[in-house]
Amino acid sequence: MAVNVALVGLGYWGPNLARTLASVDGAALRMLCDVRSERLTRFSTQYSQAQTTTDYQEVLRASDINAVVLATPVHTHFELAKAALEAGKSVLVEKPLAQTSAQCQKLISLAERNNVTLMVGHVFLYNAAVRKVKEYIQRGELGQIYYIYSQRLNLGQVRQDVNALWNFSPHDLSILSYWLDAPPSRVMARGYSYLQPGIEDVVFMTLDFPSGIGANIHISWLDPQKVRRMTIVGSEKMLVYDDVNADARIMLYDKGFTKQPATKAVDPITVSLGRYETFAEFQLLTRAGDLLIPKVSFTEPLKLECEDFIQSIRTGQRPLADGYEGLQVVKTLEAAQASMSQHGLGVPIG
Ligand SMILES: NC(=O)c1ccc[n+]([C@@H]2O[C@H](COP(=O)([O-])OP(=O)(O)OC[C@H]3O[C@@H](n4cnc5c(N)ncnc54)[C@H](O)[C@@H]3O)[C@@H](O)[C@H]2O)c1
Repeated sequence: MAVNVALVGLGYWGPNLARTLASVDGAALRMLCDVRSERLTRFSTQYSQAQTTTDYQEVLRASDINAVVLATPVHTHFELAKAALEAGKSVLVEKPLAQTSAQCQKLISLAERNNVTLMVGHVFLYNAAVRKVKEYIQRGELGQIYYIYSQRLNLGQVRQDVNALWNFSPHDLSILSYWLDAPPSRVMARGYSYLQPGIEDVVFMTLDFPSGIGANIHISWLDPQKVRRMTIVGSEKMLVYDDVNADARIMLYDKGFTKQPATKAVDPITVSLGRYETFAEFQLLTRAGDLLIPKVSFTEPLKLECEDFIQSIRTGQRPLADGYEGLQVVKTLEAAQASMSQHGLGVPIG
């Protein structure tokens, strides 16, 4: 039996989900809902098998609808998801899962009580390049991870309902925790509003992970370039994951420093001239070997995300991007927001 799905929200992102859901085995896109009737008119011919409605209550009342996918603005996520879970439907909520961690907890409890699936749209967990990077980390290819930095920049799309932190960084945060097998424990963030008062366009955030790894995230929708790049510096190798470079999404550099026992005493002038000798009992020698660009077999991440949702509903297993995953990211966003409002003070992540 197919899982009958209702898609709610046909703005910018919803049509991508409609196209994907219509192509996933075992799913049947049966309903489209948007408060703007013109959006329904725009897609009703393309998805003629789906009933359309401007009234969300109709989705909740439809007893043949097993699953609801929410692609609505962030401030609506909690109420719409809660109502769907209470109606006994499984729910996939676009990121971020909700506006507060208390709301996320409530959604998780409701889903568990009603024995239905709750999932969040952390689409990068389904990205083949992100998964390949995790493989490299897991098998120790990079050595000990020292630090990671991420840049997610663009000119637009400027939003009025959330700041750049809540809009973009769920992606970076979900990727980092996935790679490092643990959420960050502390955050320091500075945000700057230039285009709209009180809505940060640019955010610089530093995260501490329990393992001692440091990470930095630079988020902006006010930047001359479209950048989606994450750099990992390890003791053995260094890696750049560039999501907009389809020919070289991953670049693995055999670069680093090699420690060698010092053979002679060194004087301070040699050191101040920038030579490799140090006062310690070893020398740091730079090492620059090959650059590897591995082949990444790419399946559309959104397709894999939707397949995981449908499969989880059918099997009762937890999806990769489950409610707890959504909760963890929202906890970090809350702490980062608190840090920004205190001019970058370090805030522990609960
Ligand atoms: N995964 C990604 O890469 C990605 C990219 C963009 C947006 N998103 C997420 O998708 C969600 C929607 O973003 P968007 O850019 O499409 O927003 P949008 O404002 O363009 O579209 C939202 C749509 O929801 C409709 N809507 C609002 N309230 C509703 C309600 N109560 N019932 C029915 N319809 C309602 C609006 O009329 C609008 O058409 C957000 O959570 C955003 O974070 C994810």
